[in-house]
Amino acid sequence: MSTKKIAVITGGSRGLGRDMAFQIAKKGLDVVITYHSNQAAAEDVVAQVKKSGVKSVALKLDTSDVSTFDAFYGRLEEALKETMGSSNFDFLINNAGTGIYKPFVDTTEADFDEMMNIHLKGVYFLTQKALKYMNDGGGIINISSGLARFTFPKSSAYASMKGGVEVFTRYLAKELGERKIRANVVAPGAVATDFGNGENKTNEQKRKMVSSVTALGRVGEPEDIGGLVAFLCTDDARWINGQRIEASGGTML
Ligand SMILES: NC(=O)c1ccc[n+]([C@@H]2O[C@H](COP(=O)([O-])OP(=O)(O)OC[C@H]3O[C@@H](n4cnc5c(N)ncnc54)[C@H](OP(=O)(O)O)[C@@H]3O)[C@@H](O)[C@H]2O)c1
Repeated sequence: MSTKKIAVITGGSRGLGRDMAFQIAKKGLDVVITYHSNQAAAEDVVAQVKKSGVKSVALKLDTSDVSTFDAFYGRLEEALKETMGSSNFDFLINNAGTGIYKPFVDTTEADFDEMMNIHLKGVYFLTQKALKYMNDGGGIINISSGLARFTFPKSSAYASMKGGVEVFTRYLAKELGERKIRANVVAPGAVATDFGNGENKTNEQKRKMVSSVTALGRVGEPEDIGGLVAFLCTDDARWINGQRIEASGGTML
């Protein structure tokens, strides 16, 4: 049996999840990542993670489709046994997600459902179904957004779901305390990834605007977030529970 801790990161093929995988591996945990469609990118992350001397595997998962979760956990259990010598894991990082930038008046029911399924319903039931496979003493880290605290136009549906995830996390912390499973939120500010058509990477006007309302004066990079999530997967973070930690360089203070 492996004594190493194991982290499962949804959406680990790109962006924030990719850097989380690297940083968590550097802490010595084995790492499972999931991807939605970019298998090649996911396999590349796995290869790089392994360079830290830990085990790693990538699995396909659509976090917006609850009906697929039982089959996913079946595949995860097999992969864990095969690759890491354990059927359980320790940390679940609910990170996968896409964005829609649309004014409230133009947001359709389909847009709303898409955001709800991926950012709230999917997170809720993926976590519920994870409990059977999680070791006591582990942790859940839900990725929210600065947009659940401060307000920019065109993110009402997305940010509403992130607000829901923050409330959900406090309930998790309360109800899973008896198993010594901690639950926390990491809320990044704007980060330069492919998220939302890559606006935070390529839209210079937006980058200037974000920089101007951020105390540290720039847009975030994935490397600004991964280390914080990795820290929450260590014993040094053992007394942090039910908290929302914003990593935004001080946006809209
Ligand atoms: N970037 C920001 O400014 C920012 C700010 C605050 C919060 N966040 C949050 O941070 C998280 C990660 O965002 P990111 O910026 O890293 O985005 P990203 O670079 O676009 O990466 C998204 C990741 O999620 C996966 N994914 C997309 N749709 C999925 C689905 N239906 N099922 C399962 N996986 C899916 C993608 O897999 P494939 O590669 O296979 O497509 C990819 O690994 C999200 O929850 C987002 O809301 C981002």
